[in-house]
Amino acid sequence: MTYQLKGFEDFSIDEKRNFLLRMIKDIVQEDHHPLSTLSNATSFIMALLPDLNWAGFYFYGEDLYLGPFQGLPACTNIELGQGVCGMSLKKRETLCVPDVHTFPGHIACDSASNAELVIPIFDKDKSYGVLDLDSPKKNRFTKEDVEVMEEIVQLLKPVVITFLGED
Ligand code: SME
Repeated sequence: MTYQLKGFEDFSIDEKRNFLLRMIKDIVQEDHHPLSTLSNATSFIMALLPDLNWAGFYFYGEDLYLGPFQGLPACTNIELGQGVCGMSLKKRETLCVPDVHTFPGHIACDSASNAELVIPIFDKDKSYGVLDLDSPKKNRFTKEDVEVMEEIVQLLKPVVITFLGED
């Protein structure tokens, strides 16, 4: 399967978010290798959401370890409860941080990052990881971004579970 992302540059932010959601639904439905789907998901997010410098997964094993991502090299392991990612998974809450410099314990992988959105991936009794987005723009992430990314995580959760061999 090949994808040609063309003509979206002039879309409004709403159109970009809707297009992103459609692309994620498509790649999940196409049922590729889970690693391919998750890798392309990070690329679609990076291409279609404006003002991001990093988008990717951390998966949960003994700690959080780096998964497929787009952006500069990032820290490979994060303890549960550490940084925005570890705290989001520990609390099982989406964390939308308007200014990472005010978040106690924030882990700076790319000094360009100023805002961060982390969505935890979990079921009742199991934690699978997080999806992490970074932006150089303070206050970058809106309620609409949170909603669409939470929907995207729900769509990708079965793919993550398959990838981790947990089903
Ligand atoms: N800032 C994150 C670390 C991961 S990077 O942003 C890719 C955190 O505080 O958990």
